[in-house]
Amino acid sequence: MVRLTDYERRMLDGEFGAFKQAAIEKIVEYANALGAEELCKVSKATIFFGAHHYLDAVKSEDYNKIFSTMYLCSDKAIPVDKFERSCFSQTCVSPCDQYVWEPLGQTKEFFDKNSRYLDIVHKAGVSIAGSCTPYLIGCIPLKGEHFVTTESSNVVMCNSVFGAYGNSGGIESSAWSAICGRTPKWGLSIPENRLGTVVFNIKCPAETAVDWDVIGYTAGRLLPPHGIPILQGDFPMPNLIKLKQCFAALATTSSAEMCHIVGFTPEAPTLEAALGGKKPRAVIDITPEHYKESMDMICDKGNGDVDFIALGCPHYTLEEIRDTAWYIENKRVAPGVKLTVWADYAIKEMANQNGYTAIIEKAGGHILTGGCPLVVGRTMFEGLKGMATDGAKQAHYIRSDHDAPVYYGSMEQCVDAAIAGKWKGGEF
Ligand code: F3S
Repeated sequence: MVRLTDYERRMLDGEFGAFKQAAIEKIVEYANALGAEELCKVSKATIFFGAHHYLDAVKSEDYNKIFSTMYLCSDKAIPVDKFERSCFSQTCVSPCDQYVWEPLGQTKEFFDKNSRYLDIVHKAGVSIAGSCTPYLIGCIPLKGEHFVTTESSNVVMCNSVFGAYGNSGGIESSAWSAICGRTPKWGLSIPENRLGTVVFNIKCPAETAVDWDVIGYTAGRLLPPHGIPILQGDFPMPNLIKLKQCFAALATTSSAEMCHIVGFTPEAPTLEAALGGKKPRAVIDITPEHYKESMDMICDKGNGDVDFIALGCPHYTLEEIRDTAWYIENKRVAPGVKLTVWADYAIKEMANQNGYTAIIEKAGGHILTGGCPLVVGRTMFEGLKGMATDGAKQAHYIRSDHDAPVYYGSMEQCVDAAIAGKWKGGEF
């Protein structure tokens, strides 16, 4: 049985209200199921709030009822109350843009419902961010800080690059932690569990963001179950943009929650340190042939028509929006093609200030915020002829759900496709 502090026991006894009591009850059950001996304090949380389609399983318009059923797993309607103040909580992606509904093919009614749900959690203490890249807007847990998040690529980023401690708990347990400020101490919350176990020698191209997307995708699909990958090789050190692609793709094809990069990430100054002096479970080369196999898995063959382009999976940085604006300037998206660029609204505001939004809109594109095609869902894909994206994660999931061809490539290839209305592709 998990040991509780006096404060945690008082919360469990209901001294701080029914909302926190319900959350810590679930955390205690979760800790006992995991065999955790104690709880740890959580200081950062990003949570999947909004009018997500799966919530429609509860036939009610009462958000308290929906929240209790789906997040607190309770048959009682417990009113949404204050989240834990010492844990900074912000929203992950929701199924709507922050401002508009028409370019997403949605109704004002659905947009209003999403805003209403977000407003309730906002009043309870959760900041609205609509971001799957919280580290781009200052929500960064540092070394040794415990975090929870519903975004799998963010789990890998925070563990691997910032040295923070967190597990892929999922939607419900992240909400419980944000409410009560505690999470079970288990898995990657414990330093000795963070050692790398599988070494990947990178012998394929490792220069561009596409290369790192494909490396992450490949490492994930070759990773033995429960492995923690260590990447090493003679490559220039990847920047944050390349790492966000790599980690999103890695977390798509595997359940990896951490990834060491020798000589770069804080717990991997050397291969020996990453392994903790132990022998690896496996040593795997990622070759150009593996790279090609992965490309074949995420990109349809041929040069078909495209009418939908999605850039920014994970959400774009300002630098990526700038590069897109500079690339598309004085060009024009083909009639009938929708070019969408996805970011959080803080980054979009900077894009507005710098004139990048105006350039992209003048070319016929949109910068959208708060979600992504995958999370927005059905309305983005109605009548889809063909799609192009620069996110391997997006391509992977959309290819598996739709019959229309899905093409994957660089931002430049995707913009070229938007201009031509046709995927021109190219050999990798
Ligand atoms: Fe973010 Fe959506 Fe990709 S949540 S990581 S843009 S699938």
